[in-house]
Amino acid sequence: NKGARRPADVPPSKLKRVGVIGAGFMGAGIAYVTAQAGLEVVLVDKDIEAAEKGKAYSHKLVSDQIMKGRAKTADRDALLGRIKASADYADLKGCDLIVEAVFEDPKVKAEVIAKVEAVVGPRTIFGSNTSTLPITGLAQTSQRPKNFIGIHFFSPVEKMLLVEVIMAKKTGKKALAMALDFVRAIKKTPIVVNDTRGFYANRCVGNYIREGHLMLMEGVPPAMIEAAGKQAGMPVGPLSLNDEVAVDLAYKVLKATKAQLGEGAVDPAQEKLLADMVEKHGRLGRKNRNGFYDYPEAGPKRLW
Ligand code: NAI
Repeated sequence: NKGARRPADVPPSKLKRVGVIGAGFMGAGIAYVTAQAGLEVVLVDKDIEAAEKGKAYSHKLVSDQIMKGRAKTADRDALLGRIKASADYADLKGCDLIVEAVFEDPKVKAEVIAKVEAVVGPRTIFGSNTSTLPITGLAQTSQRPKNFIGIHFFSPVEKMLLVEVIMAKKTGKKALAMALDFVRAIKKTPIVVNDTRGFYANRCVGNYIREGHLMLMEGVPPAMIEAAGKQAGMPVGPLSLNDEVAVDLAYKVLKATKAQLGEGAVDPAQEKLLADMVEKHGRLGRKNRNGFYDYPEAGPKRLW
């Protein structure tokens, strides 16, 4: 992969301790894969309950592995011992890399960047997991734009191998080397992509999901939409996929696209569908067990 070539003149990154900020859906998964690779993790959220809840996701995942005979109780104890849940940014001191996965709101992200930079040393690299905000824009709020980079995971983090690495205008080669070293250390595949709306994968995936929405609005039965996607070789149909990544996230992306590119950039039928799903019916996807599908408490459907 030529695009993911590591700068040859940068020595291997010293990577021991990783801070993950935001212990929600993505941050909890990032903490798990990082700890699984033997790295120490400081998992920070606004309050300790949220941070502990994020850590509990690792407990669940490794317990599933134990049930399948792929891990031992001692592995679980060791892995959980590597994750420190915290509500105190001061605990991020000493981290070599920070991965931010807080709400998709530039103001919240800017606050987090300032709080992190107040406690970490000048060599700490800061990676944002934003799905839609330009990395160059976020980096402008940083005092250390050379250390600022995009590290974009896909959900569910423990299963998806691809990670996009996005260089902002002022990102330095040490940050690039660190991001690539980190992604490889956690046994995922990095690709370096341009800092454009949707980066690479979401430009493709967004269109797959959008066509699913539009077919639904045209009256195509959902089961047919889903089955055709699978027959075409996709691991899941577009509606299931949207349930996985969250319906409200798709709606947010649509609204951001409209704000940035104007009315003509979005399809009114898709906008109506998403507005109804999110605002009228509160169907946000698998995360609240109600999306295009229902996800009953017992035995959630496995997509991957
Ligand atoms: P989420 O809502 O599940 O989690 C966000 C977490 O951040 C919450 O636990 C919240 O309490 C915490 N948080 C908010 N402000 C904070 C602060 N100031 N300090 C510490 N913690 C704070 O959101 P999700 O889905 O995990 O998304 C997080 C980021 O990852 C967003 O930027 C999103 O665009 C991106 N992303 C999401 C994907 C998805 O499939 N949901 C995929 C790839 C990226």
